[in-house]
Amino acid sequence: MTQPVLEAVNLAQSYEVSRGFLSAPATVKAVAGISFRLAPRSTLAVVGESGSGKSTLARMLTMIEAPGAGSLFLNGVDVAEADAATRRRYRGEVQMVFQNPYGSLNPRQTIGAAIEEPLLVNTPLPAAERRARALDMMARVGLRPEHHGRYPHMFSGGQRQRIAIARALVLKPKILVLDEPVSALDVSVRAQVLNLLVELQEGLGVAYVFVSHDLGVVRHMADEVMVMYLGRAVEHGPRDAIFSAAKHPYTRALMSATPMADPGAKKDRIVLEGELPSPFNPPTGCPFNPRCPLVMARCRSEMPPLETKAGRLVACWAAQDTPGPTPMRREAAAA
Ligand SMILES: Nc1ncnc2c1ncn2[C@@H]1O[C@H](COP(=O)(O)OP(=O)(O)OP(=O)(O)O)[C@@H](O)[C@H]1O
Ligand SMILES: [Mg+2]
Repeated sequence: MTQPVLEAVNLAQSYEVSRGFLSAPATVKAVAGISFRLAPRSTLAVVGESGSGKSTLARMLTMIEAPGAGSLFLNGVDVAEADAATRRRYRGEVQMVFQNPYGSLNPRQTIGAAIEEPLLVNTPLPAAERRARALDMMARVGLRPEHHGRYPHMFSGGQRQRIAIARALVLKPKILVLDEPVSALDVSVRAQVLNLLVELQEGLGVAYVFVSHDLGVVRHMADEVMVMYLGRAVEHGPRDAIFSAAKHPYTRALMSATPMADPGAKKDRIVLEGELPSPFNPPTGCPFNPRCPLVMARCRSEMPPLETKAGRLVACWAAQDTPGPTPMRREAAAA
């Protein structure tokens, strides 16, 4: 890979959570050692069930929350260890777009003021230049100049997400972290916002970390895919390798639940049994073992390492280092 624009090494975050006043507080390992290298202008998609640690990872990547452990390198400097000035600079380079654009926009601020605010806080630019840059960014995201003086409630959900994207990009960051950016939008406008993101990436050369639980969206957007389960990466590699031949049984199960992710495939369904285990008390060995159709004795005692097999990283004792997807014993035709 060319020099990565961002490198995460063993990022981890735990939270102490109270469990009622008679029990001792418990620790949740929300993210338990995530590493990746993000190439410039590329998109890393992060997928996984609710509670797998995607948003926690996103908050650490944007330094909204300092990592509990691990390193985060931007241009070779570890920001997790850096002084306040370096962290401030970092926050300019790595911006975030949230799921709900209404929550991230101040209802009493015009959208022009909202988009100019990062420039006001972080740059010495005069008012006229701030306005010019905001208008330029508004045009890039498909908003008209007359929108500048209007308030968030005057816009549709899709337009509000365009405003949030313009605000995140106005400082020309190198990286945009998007946490479920289209999940709250009407299906009819999702594709428009996704296409806008693709266009902006080409035009501005920004790299994306794209969090989503929708594999159809991930397939459209990603260069690389990381599948998370209980705070860990279980499979991570080039999009085509993963979509054409997933090696981890969890990835296969997610895909079989997404009809559009594999339109040509035969109608086999792998039904995930049980719920995501409690993060307070994860299973020993492989965290996926209680739900895994391929479980073996070893899986209950030893955590499989994340290692290279068939052109991607995968953490599974049963995954084979051969082309083609990992066969699933319990695969049965859907009713
Ligand atoms: N501030 C916090 N305090 C305590 N526990 C937290 C906190 N933030 C996250 N967690 C816990 O960490 C785990 C991971 O949560 P996270 O929000 O990162 O998951 P997620 O993959 O983004 O889920 P979703 O798809 O529902 O958004 C969960 O068990 C969650 O309850
Ligand atoms: Mg989340």
